Amino acid sequence: MHAWLCENPTGIDALAWTELPTPQPKTGEVLIAIKAASLNFPDILIVQNKYQMKPALPFVPGSEYAGVVQAVGEGVIHLKVGQPVACLSGTGGFATHTIAPAALCMPLPPGFAFVDAAAFIMTYATSHHALVDRAQLKAGETVLVLGAAGGVGTAAIQIAKAMGARVIAAASTAEKCALCTSLGADATINYSSENLRESLKTLTAGKGPHVIYDPVGGEFAEPAFRSIAWRGRYLVVGFAAGPIPSLPLNLALLKGASIVGVFWGDYSRREPKHNAAMMVELAQWYGQGKIKPVIDRTMPMAELKAALTHMGTRGVMGKLVMVN
Ligand SMILES: NC(=O)c1ccc[n+]([C@@H]2O[C@H](COP(=O)([O-])OP(=O)(O)OC[C@H]3O[C@@H](n4cnc5c(N)ncnc54)[C@H](OP(=O)(O)O)[C@@H]3O)[C@@H](O)[C@H]2O)c1
Repeated sequence: MHAWLCENPTGIDALAWTELPTPQPKTGEVLIAIKAASLNFPDILIVQNKYQMKPALPFVPGSEYAGVVQAVGEGVIHLKVGQPVACLSGTGGFATHTIAPAALCMPLPPGFAFVDAAAFIMTYATSHHALVDRAQLKAGETVLVLGAAGGVGTAAIQIAKAMGARVIAAASTAEKCALCTSLGADATINYSSENLRESLKTLTAGKGPHVIYDPVGGEFAEPAFRSIAWRGRYLVVGFAAGPIPSLPLNLALLKGASIVGVFWGDYSRREPKHNAAMMVELAQWYGQGKIKPVIDRTMPMAELKAALTHMGTRGVMGKLVMVN
């Protein structure tokens, strides 16, 4: 097998495509032949030692992937050799093969393409947990999605539309805004060229969005929060822009608004039954065509360094997927 090995987490350049012995699964594990692995923002952070999870060295990055089970360890009963699966295990995906805990593998129903499956769990689970569970979004409410053309952003647009909400998508280029419109966004704001607060005022008749989905942080967090509606819910999803913003708490008081944290990874560990029910619903929505991962492009696994650089420079629209 081959894998992108990180022996020294100093950045993308330190990754090396390395031949390794193919491991055998232990109790509760499976060996997966990887067909596709998608990029998630933490994949960039983890190889720079900037992510909250710091794996023991050396490790193989690649949080999320899909492929075919090639061998099963003792005690694994719900997966068989030849079964197509998707898995989000945090590491191991940027390779030809990986060992994964069987409990983290989602068996794929017929018709679920590997490229879609590799780009599914992280973004849709995060956005569903955020909008349905944390924000209690209702049909007819208005949602502002920041970084709306990114991985979790595109999933948030589709889920909010599936719930009957009105979506205002905000992104940094006209091309990204056009993508959001094609996904069903009712209105867009290009925050590189428009004043976010003025545009929100116009688009909501002065009332502001009921829910704000923020995976970006940085300079737009405060103006967005200043625009929120009475009883609004501000979802703290991530900090793709880098700096972690501060919000003046008087703004929460003035709007009767809530600042709501979203941490899907811990939700899935602390509330596994709720998470499993959510994943069943998401798989059904995929089967019904209500949601579908937006694939920016696929690239050969050998081109991982170029792919990670593309994501780090805001180039990706939707999801970038490496394939074997
Ligand atoms: N809380 C959770 O449970 C959870 C789960 C998954 C992901 N996340 C977090 O959500 C964030 C987004 O993840 P993602 O996978 O959707 O990433 P992504 O596909 O790269 O999207 C991030 C978006 O952020 C915007 N952005 C603004 N400044 C940026 C910068 N300096 N570098 C890169 N992007 C920048 C870009 O949109 P514009 O160019 O349009 O501004 C980009 O499309 C990350 O911080 C990630 O860690 C959180």
